[in-house]
Amino acid sequence: MLDKAKDLLRPSRRSDVPPFIVMDVMAAAAQAEAKGMRVVHMEVGQPARPAPATAIRAAQAALAHGRIGYTETLGIPSLRARIAQYYREIYGLDLDPARVAVTTGSSGGFILAFLSLFEPGERVALANPGYPPYRHILSALGCAPVLIETSAETRWALTPQALIAEHRNKPLAGLVVASPANPTGTMMPADALGELIAAAEAEGIKVISDEIYHGLDYALRAETAAKLSERAVVINSFSKYFCMTGWRIGWMVAPESLVRTLERLQGNLAISVPTLAQIAAEAAFEGRDEMEAVKHGYEENRRILVEGLPKAGLDKFLPVDGAFYLYADISSFSHDSLDFAKCMLAQAGVAATPGIDFDPVNGHNFLRFCYAGSAAEMHEAVERIAGWLRR
Ligand SMILES: Cc1ncc(COP(=O)(O)O)c(C=O)c1O
Repeated sequence: MLDKAKDLLRPSRRSDVPPFIVMDVMAAAAQAEAKGMRVVHMEVGQPARPAPATAIRAAQAALAHGRIGYTETLGIPSLRARIAQYYREIYGLDLDPARVAVTTGSSGGFILAFLSLFEPGERVALANPGYPPYRHILSALGCAPVLIETSAETRWALTPQALIAEHRNKPLAGLVVASPANPTGTMMPADALGELIAAAEAEGIKVISDEIYHGLDYALRAETAAKLSERAVVINSFSKYFCMTGWRIGWMVAPESLVRTLERLQGNLAISVPTLAQIAAEAAFEGRDEMEAVKHGYEENRRILVEGLPKAGLDKFLPVDGAFYLYADISSFSHDSLDFAKCMLAQAGVAATPGIDFDPVNGHNFLRFCYAGSAAEMHEAVERIAGWLRR
């Protein structure tokens, strides 16, 4: 009887996904702050700035109006149309709004994409290092994430050769690409992305392109996979460029043939996406000037770190192409990025994320810095790290 009672409380095996280690760093930073220490936060990948004023005003007006009901499952039609218009403005792509699905952040988009494209057990290729929830969501859904190593030679991007070699080894059903990428902050040139997508699709490998950091591109211009293939599934979000992480709103651009499936899935899983966030998101497009100013702030932060960190002693890092991440090689100081991050927090008051969150193979040699804060914080971080490493 006791054993049976224990079974009642046992979580499923597939729910056994690892936590985000960055949360442990955040908790340690909060403890240090509670004891009166000043901490420069570079651990969490989110903008320090609020949503565009246009978005906040639209949400306030909607709240004042009263009832917030469900919306159409795939999103308010005018928001889907506004997103489609954005593709014309940014990429010069004519996109049918019927191919746009509004989702609960890009995180909601991944669940829908993986459920609609893959059977349990199917193998999906991911670049290593990469954003951990790709592999954790795939595992929770019973799919098999397949990490493919990347290196400096390919600007830390997957190549058609590496993908096809893995596919010949054992067939792949899917591929997730991201440019700009997290944690590396590196980007793929448009032609390299096009070649990778073409190589995958020629082998029947379905492509999902995570474009959440589009808009935050400095070294190269980000190209949407929607322009490179009508079969690719694109996932995007208001979280990063539009500074709306907590609003939990994103979108997908899907092939027409997949849209009804997405609608049935989302209808059952969520009914619809939070209405207030959708109203704010539509108005966010009118706040682009404000968001461009925020982006210029990131560019300045990037300059401060790219110039300052080598002088402070951290002189090996990946190309700082886009997003708001700098991925630094700490191997001349430590081969234990978790310990290094803890010491840097305790002794220098700078919080960053250990690479092991993103890369189970080499992550012990890397640290991710998020530069979405203020320029003053970037200067302070460089000075503190310099003082600490010189000790
Ligand atoms: C690469 C990448 N994709 C997706 C997400 C999820 O973002 P959201 O669900 O807020 O859209 C993040 C968040 O940090 C990310 O870094």
